[in-house]
Amino acid sequence: DPHSFSGVWRFHALLPFAPREMCVTIGEGQTLLQRSDPVAEYVGLRPGSLFLQYEGLNPSGSFKDNGMAAAFTHARLVGATRAACASTGNTSASLALYCSVTRLMRAIIFIGSGKIAYGKLAQALDYGALTVQIAGDFDDAMKRVQEVSRSLGIYLVNSVNPFRLEGQKTIMLRVLEALRWEVPDWIVVPGGNLGNSSAFGKAFRELRDLGLIKKVPRLAVINAVGANTLYRLYECEGLRWNGGRVDGEKLSQFYGEMDREGRRASTIASAIEINRPVNLWKCLQALEVCQGVVREVTDQEILDAKAQVGAGGLGCEPASAASVAGAKRLVSEGVITKDELVVCILTGHQLKDPTATVAYHTTDQQMFNEVLGKRGVRRATFANR
Ligand code: F0G
Repeated sequence: DPHSFSGVWRFHALLPFAPREMCVTIGEGQTLLQRSDPVAEYVGLRPGSLFLQYEGLNPSGSFKDNGMAAAFTHARLVGATRAACASTGNTSASLALYCSVTRLMRAIIFIGSGKIAYGKLAQALDYGALTVQIAGDFDDAMKRVQEVSRSLGIYLVNSVNPFRLEGQKTIMLRVLEALRWEVPDWIVVPGGNLGNSSAFGKAFRELRDLGLIKKVPRLAVINAVGANTLYRLYECEGLRWNGGRVDGEKLSQFYGEMDREGRRASTIASAIEINRPVNLWKCLQALEVCQGVVREVTDQEILDAKAQVGAGGLGCEPASAASVAGAKRLVSEGVITKDELVVCILTGHQLKDPTATVAYHTTDQQMFNEVLGKRGVRRATFANR
């Protein structure tokens, strides 16, 4: 039974929207929770206090496969033949892979021109997705793909699709399983379109309501400074879920200002270079369920943390390392205390974005300048290796 080998469908009872035999799997979710003492030390925690949930081991190299397995299952139930997404690269790689393996649908992907790391673009092209480059960034691509898929009746697999979130709940189930159902004190996750954080909140609410866990971990969502909509709204403007009564006026004021200023997202962590997260409301709910906090980290902090993760033996892409950089910040602020158990989610594989890594370590001044110098990042020093 292939479903028993899926890290998603092993938990079918907790996402029972389709009969088991209809569930689509290509072997997703065979991931690893690794204790990392070197990263614990870097972050300022005691040995044994920090674990890395490595989602780079998924078939397409990122956590997206958890959600894609569930979205494809729903798409099969409704008989969809074409699927689309906008992407900073990982959703598109995942969609393209599931299409090529299952042959259930044709893939159409929208990417902002020049906004996608080469490893991810290479996947979409190799797996044979129709790849549409649009003038603009992810936020523009997201808007376009929603219009196009609505008017042409194409199945949308971005995380506005609630079935994606059902699949991504299982990341937390596997973390708990690996910890033998000891609930960690903190889950730290990068925030882009806010699908993961929303899914994690839903998972913990359901587990608590089912009586399977007694306490809910706290959630820390980490933005990049150059793509910090959630941070600004939640931590600076005090926007809250508030039992479903989100202050819509505050929100439209914020986005109105963003439009007037023509503000665009910009970070080396291209996966989370997003200013208009589609799951903002669901994420606010998750932050309420999990007594969440939101922080922003600089590109420098992200790349330094990424190098530490690499030195500790797991390779991740820049966006993933935002979780480690965020944990370090929260420890230095005293929000996370030394005795607490912390799980950082490493969302994507190192090989997704080789350019950022090589630029950080290179002695080639020209390459460094092109990729990082213009962002004000310093190269790796011996001390932070
Ligand atoms: N980390 C990686 C590696 C990602 O690819 C993404 C999102 C995130 C974190 C943020 O996760 O959206 O659930 O908050 N990538 C999307 C994409 C946007 O198109 O691949 P989120």
